[in-house]
Amino acid sequence: MSEELPAKPAKSPATVLAKPLYRFRDGIRWRARALLQNARDAKLAAEAWARRTVGLNRSENKLISDSQSYWNNLSDRSRNQNSHWRGVGIFADDSRWLSLGHGHLELYEEFARALNLRHSPKRIVEWGCGGGMNAVHFAPLCLEFYGVDISSASLEECGRQLIAAGFSNFTPVLIDAADPEAAVSRVGGPCDLLISTYVFELLPTPEYGIRVLRVAHELLAPGGIGMIQMKYSEANRTTASRRWAYAKNLAWNATYRIEEFWEAAEQCGFTPKMVTLLPKQPLVNDRNYAYFLLLKAGAT
Ligand SMILES: C[S@@+](CC[C@H](N)C(=O)[O-])C[C@H]1O[C@@H](n2cnc3c(N)ncnc32)[C@H](O)[C@@H]1O
Repeated sequence: MSEELPAKPAKSPATVLAKPLYRFRDGIRWRARALLQNARDAKLAAEAWARRTVGLNRSENKLISDSQSYWNNLSDRSRNQNSHWRGVGIFADDSRWLSLGHGHLELYEEFARALNLRHSPKRIVEWGCGGGMNAVHFAPLCLEFYGVDISSASLEECGRQLIAAGFSNFTPVLIDAADPEAAVSRVGGPCDLLISTYVFELLPTPEYGIRVLRVAHELLAPGGIGMIQMKYSEANRTTASRRWAYAKNLAWNATYRIEEFWEAAEQCGFTPKMVTLLPKQPLVNDRNYAYFLLLKAGAT
């Protein structure tokens, strides 16, 4: 038995036209945005090519000293936001600050589960702890939490956040950008876990980042693990390390191809175990992130 369906009300001409018009408008916007992005990428690629060809790139030493100045320039209003201080700039939205740091703790726990690591770190070190966005989530896991940074203001802020959260296991380790190796003797002993997020991209050059990777290996105890985030290049000029104007290119100073970083970690003595990609991170409006889990061979 079939029942007759009620006739659909006829659509007005405006409703009939609306959908294609919206699609057309969205299509134009999308194309305009893509064109703008292509133009920006082309400008950047041309600048990178011209600088390399004419030899205008900055020396390693100049970029290192520019990084030291940038992170210690108290009059630069963007610095505290870029150091991920709670309540400042985009982090006035506290949920953003909390969820970025908590996301890193979740990722570490996922890595540990995936590898069946029975890992309860007694000593944790963070390379470039900034305003304590990770520290407040990782300090509760351990007896001693070390924050290494080139900015004393950020180390103080990190300490303040930890005290406010009820933790007294923080030791600040101030280093000079020119001497990252100094951290080894200043951290109180071999660590079980080293974390570093939103730091490798702003190290002065990729070669300097590999230097830090070697220091990270030295800081860890046998069987210790490193969870390190870096920014990956796509083997084109737009996503390549800049090597000029440190402060202008802040989060693009040092990029690596994924396999290049993996192999560099091996050369530093690590056994890379896993990598996970985050092509877009809307919480900081940035992209091309890779998180590596690196194991230092030895007892577990
Ligand atoms: C974007 S903040 C990241 C803070 C924290 N890791 C996070 O994810 O919220 C970058 C931090 O790295 C520090 N930094 C910059 N160059 C460094 C270096 N060569 N060694 C250690 N820390 C450095 C800065 O002072 C700043 O505190």
